[in-house]
Amino acid sequence: MPEQKFYLTTPIYYVNARPHIGHAYSTLAADVIARRHRLLGEDTFFLTGTDEHGQKIERSAAAAGIPPQQFTDQVSAEFRTLWDRMGLTYDDYIRTTEPRHQQGVQRLFADLHQRGQIYLSTYTGQYSIGEEIFVDGPPGVLGPDGKPTETVTEENFFFRLSEYQLPLIDLIESDTLHIQPESRKNEILSFLRGNVAEATDRGEVVALSAQGKPYVPGNLRDLSVSRSSFTWGIPVPEPAASETTQRHVIYVWLDALANYMTAVGYGSDAPEDVAKFERYWPADLHLMAKEITRQHCIYWPAFLLAAGLPLPKAVTAHGWLLFDDSKMSKSKGNIVRTETILDAFGTEVYKKQFPDSTKKEQDLFAADVLRYFLLREIPFGQDGSFSFDAMITRYNADLANGYGNLVSRTLSMIEKYNSGIIPDFALDFRDPAVLENFADLIGVPALLNTHSWHLTHRINNLIFANYISAVLELVTKADGWITARAPWKLAKKDDALSQRELRTLLSSVAQTLRVITAALYPVIPETTAKVWLQLGLGDIETAAKQGDLQNLEWDNSLVGTKLGTLAPIFPRADRGLAQIMIDMENPNAPKPEQPAPSRFVDETTTHTAPVPTDPTHPGAPPRAFADVAPGTTVAGSLAISTERTGTPSHTEAAASGIFANSAAQSSVSGTASATAPGVSGTAPETPQIAIDDFVKIDLRVAQIVVAERIPKADKLLRLEVDLGYEKRQILSGIAEWYTPEQLIGKKIVVIANLAPRKMRGLESHGMLLAASHGEDGKPVLATFGEEIALGSRLK
Ligand code: ME8
Ligand code: MG
Repeated sequence: MPEQKFYLTTPIYYVNARPHIGHAYSTLAADVIARRHRLLGEDTFFLTGTDEHGQKIERSAAAAGIPPQQFTDQVSAEFRTLWDRMGLTYDDYIRTTEPRHQQGVQRLFADLHQRGQIYLSTYTGQYSIGEEIFVDGPPGVLGPDGKPTETVTEENFFFRLSEYQLPLIDLIESDTLHIQPESRKNEILSFLRGNVAEATDRGEVVALSAQGKPYVPGNLRDLSVSRSSFTWGIPVPEPAASETTQRHVIYVWLDALANYMTAVGYGSDAPEDVAKFERYWPADLHLMAKEITRQHCIYWPAFLLAAGLPLPKAVTAHGWLLFDDSKMSKSKGNIVRTETILDAFGTEVYKKQFPDSTKKEQDLFAADVLRYFLLREIPFGQDGSFSFDAMITRYNADLANGYGNLVSRTLSMIEKYNSGIIPDFALDFRDPAVLENFADLIGVPALLNTHSWHLTHRINNLIFANYISAVLELVTKADGWITARAPWKLAKKDDALSQRELRTLLSSVAQTLRVITAALYPVIPETTAKVWLQLGLGDIETAAKQGDLQNLEWDNSLVGTKLGTLAPIFPRADRGLAQIMIDMENPNAPKPEQPAPSRFVDETTTHTAPVPTDPTHPGAPPRAFADVAPGTTVAGSLAISTERTGTPSHTEAAASGIFANSAAQSSVSGTASATAPGVSGTAPETPQIAIDDFVKIDLRVAQIVVAERIPKADKLLRLEVDLGYEKRQILSGIAEWYTPEQLIGKKIVVIANLAPRKMRGLESHGMLLAASHGEDGKPVLATFGEEIALGSRLK
């Protein structure tokens, strides 16, 4: 195979919940890059897949009540189905539960062990389940996802990561392992180097890298690469396994990172696999978002160095899609689903214009809109906020009114004034009069040729937003030529010069359209394919294969081409589409005049439980665990200000706060306890309250320290709760739903200033906050997803 190869990867996504547009962002960006390299004639291999082992997945499967393999089969298939709906051209889809992968991971582990790079020891420390990483710090320290870590004490195999500090620094400083953007490279380097200033202050000796930059030797610690406290993973292979009587599974990050090699044959001795590995490894580019660069720029290259294998050439980290200023994520629940965008743009925009179109055509059209929006709107590498409104605005401005409009007006003029044949550049520029009057058109070939250089530079360096805006500059320019020369007026004049002017103008715009379309092909492959056909240039995929799309310059072979059948490309999107998408994200969302129904949302059930909308902002994007300024009253999500820090935190249940156990209590005690003003959430016609009413309720964070049944009262539990400033007894009618064991240790919300009263001869002082779930009104206690001090007030 003579041609150059290009191997690129996306992260393999965790299957703990369904995909959202954050995952689509990486995968569609990889698709753009893959298409670009294919059209350059490179033998491109684009890999994506799913990461299916580890404690987080094991717990999610358990919570869903199905065996882990069945759970991962389902969710992995959802990711793949979505990528297919979007027309993404991945070449392989790896799942870490596949035998080909497991075999490769075991080989890598065994090889590292045999080379003396792995040894048995014991780990005691903190572990972040959400991020599946070990975290430095005392018990209770928060993980990178902002959630409390768990203390782990277990026997583990360790990898000698500490030995790779200097080799990694040298490789990264010299760009042998190229990390983009620069800010991420610096972050990784400063992590590897350690705190040189502090070490110097302490009088320690610092060392110098090959490039003469200082670092603190010994700053990198060995890494635990197995787990022995759960089973959902790839077993540690022999002979390492015989060193212990415990059953170890391989650490999920070692397992996951190895996918990049196992997908191209590593671990198999079959000749075709061996050849494939030799052909494609090392990867040319690992693409991901910024939160997992440490694993990719430190752990992964260290494993490879230790195994004597070649390193990937480049790691590129893009930014985060944000929603309400925080990272869109499964565990926060503030997600937007790609399916919503495909369905909405597919049916409300495309199908309305083309009622006979197929679902596939609608999907691919909508996928183009999403690709365009995300890559144009957010500078690649930076974070960007997602909004439906911005998406519609951008679509209408750039695609419907910009590119789409230019295509249709130009091609219909060529149809009308030149019988559908692309005219030649007909002016004679040797004529001084022409030179004087047609400076703009004379410059078109040179303009395209220099623009081509800029475009190529930008796309090759993944500067997508600037690349696309440079393409759109051509649209603006071409529109300007048309407006200035009013071809409809020229067409009415029959002198030779006017006719030549008309032909030159149409020719220039057609040439520009060819460049625009070729340049946009990797970004919006479906719609550019249609324009290519309309330009009379045939199948764009064939053009890509032949290398024709590399040419972003003036091209005389276009002259004389007969246009294809004309049709609109980008029907305008109505502004109301934003609300349609918001409603699709929240199928059961309350009408704005109604309070939000209570609902339970957590990481493992986001794929069944819809995310509540924010009822204080009708038309606002859905927010489950949204940031809400302290002091705002929100029925669907309460903001809590911890009195010590003043930072907002969020209730995990994200449900409308209703005092659900009041109903249960009243049925037990006969007391009409739902007397708190304006908070009986399920009543359809709850009167509105003023903020003054709300502040009368003293809601506090408390921890349940004792929970026990009360003899002869089978609905009641006796609880002792710690409010930080005092301990209290509360009786609660939740015994049918919660066992005492489930409750002890939970941090909950208590109405602290409810007057005490007697039930069954016992005093109950306060009430718990819970949502009422399902038809039978099962109470679901409001709890917290983040660390929160006892006694903090909810307001
Ligand atoms: O980290 N904005 O999987 P994961 C932008 N299994 N990109 C986002 C995003 C957001 N809000 N949310 C997710 C894992 N992504 C590991 C990876 S690789 C050997 C193992 C994208 O399901 C982005 O690419 O948490 C991010 O790096 C990735 O999904 C994380 O996916
Ligand atoms: Mg993640």
